[in-house]
Amino acid sequence: MNAQLSPTPDPFFQFKQAQKQGWAHFFPLEALTIPQAPRLIRHAKVRSADRVLDVACGTGVVSITAARLGAQATGLDLTPELLQRARENARISGVAVEFHEGDAERLPFEDSSFDVVLSQFGHIFAPRPEIAIAEMLRVLKPGGTMAFSTWPPELYVGRSMALMSKYLPPPAGMPSPMLWGDSNVVRERLGDKVKDVVFHRARMNVPVLSVQIHRTNTERTVGPLIKLVEALSATAPEKLDQLRREAEALAAEYLEDNLLRQDYLMTRAIKI
Ligand SMILES: C[S@@+](CC[C@H](N)C(=O)[O-])C[C@H]1O[C@@H](n2cnc3c(N)ncnc32)[C@H](O)[C@@H]1O
Repeated sequence: MNAQLSPTPDPFFQFKQAQKQGWAHFFPLEALTIPQAPRLIRHAKVRSADRVLDVACGTGVVSITAARLGAQATGLDLTPELLQRARENARISGVAVEFHEGDAERLPFEDSSFDVVLSQFGHIFAPRPEIAIAEMLRVLKPGGTMAFSTWPPELYVGRSMALMSKYLPPPAGMPSPMLWGDSNVVRERLGDKVKDVVFHRARMNVPVLSVQIHRTNTERTVGPLIKLVEALSATAPEKLDQLRREAEALAAEYLEDNLLRQDYLMTRAIKI
């Protein structure tokens, strides 16, 4: 093969392979993201017949909700097991959604293909934010809407992620995915390619019978945590015990009446 034509090797290839394995177990958590999907769609002001891309779509909760409203929806995700579930969800719901296996950092679409580009708690996990956002803007039409839901670093999910990073730092060169929940960082990353940036805060209430059950469930379903628990079980079981104690104490701070408060940020912007 002509060396000039070979694609640039991805420095995060191994990391993404591990992410893919971890996220394969995410599907029970669609029960929590399903109610958030219409909120993001409303925030983005999606209209019937819009061409909508759902980046890091998981089991398709955003794309399928958009399709039910009449949009021409496409979903893309790294994890084949979740896409299988997404296709089944769309088939049972009786809507046509195109699903693609792929990477937010390398979207397999032409420039200006979509009226709306969305991501619900998804594109934040791409290790190079500047590449993911450039790709999402590239495939969006001028005048089109970009909107996403993200976790602020100072609230429950952000603090949980920081706790995990204490035990297993992200690969060198990867900023915390939770920076996408900081409106100043979001503005900086969107830069001068967009106008009319609007933020909105929302709450996901998670039914939790006890912090121990919640911790056990997250260890079985949240991709990066699954990988961390695997690593610590093999090398440092005492650190795993400590992580578990800290995770339960953190959850207790946000738990009231068997509901765990997970507040998040929604962003909307128009491509110039
Ligand atoms: C928290 S889940 C959110 C799924 C879905 N958007 C929802 O709201 O239910 C995160 C998703 O990001 C996907 N993901 C992680 N890194 C990705 C990447 N580089 N490109 C595309 N998808 C990615 C995972 O496979 C997983 O489906």
